[in-house]
Amino acid sequence: MYTQKVMDHFASPRNVGEMPDADGIGEVGNPACGDMMTVYIKVEDNRIVDLKYKTFGCVAAIAVSSIVSEMSKGLTLEEAKKMSKKAAAEELGGLPKEKMHCSNLGADALLKAIEDYEAKRDGRKSKDAGPEKEVKTAEDAPEAGSDRHLCAGCGKENPEGASFCMHCGHSLKS
Ligand code: FES
Repeated sequence: MYTQKVMDHFASPRNVGEMPDADGIGEVGNPACGDMMTVYIKVEDNRIVDLKYKTFGCVAAIAVSSIVSEMSKGLTLEEAKKMSKKAAAEELGGLPKEKMHCSNLGADALLKAIEDYEAKRDGRKSKDAGPEKEVKTAEDAPEAGSDRHLCAGCGKENPEGASFCMHCGHSLKS
């Protein structure tokens, strides 16, 4: 059912862990199954120089996380953003059809980590040398009086207590 490469990355996932000094963090949930992935990236000169992740998911999700961590190191942010959701599955020698949705997790979390990095970078630039202050993103800044259960990513409603948007996978944590 799974290729040897999938089983290898599942049994020995590369680059697992957290990164306390990450430049960008991306967290997504898979709306199809509720599995979760958090990606941490370190960026230098517009390139991803290090990546760590924590994945709560199936065999395919863990193998995809591992291969994405290998594929994205050394890429420019633009190259990493263009990494297709199918690329990780292809690199693993394919995934069973019913597991293709699992490959979305890796690309989506990586994209969110890059967006988080860019938001922080742009926030710092605009403040110039001002005191360090938390950067606001769409996720952190719901409109006044807005319902916290509305997703900042797609605007759709979610059940109370949900950590991730059931429609688009966007994190609902503030
Ligand atoms: Fe959830 Fe694979 S079944 S990511």
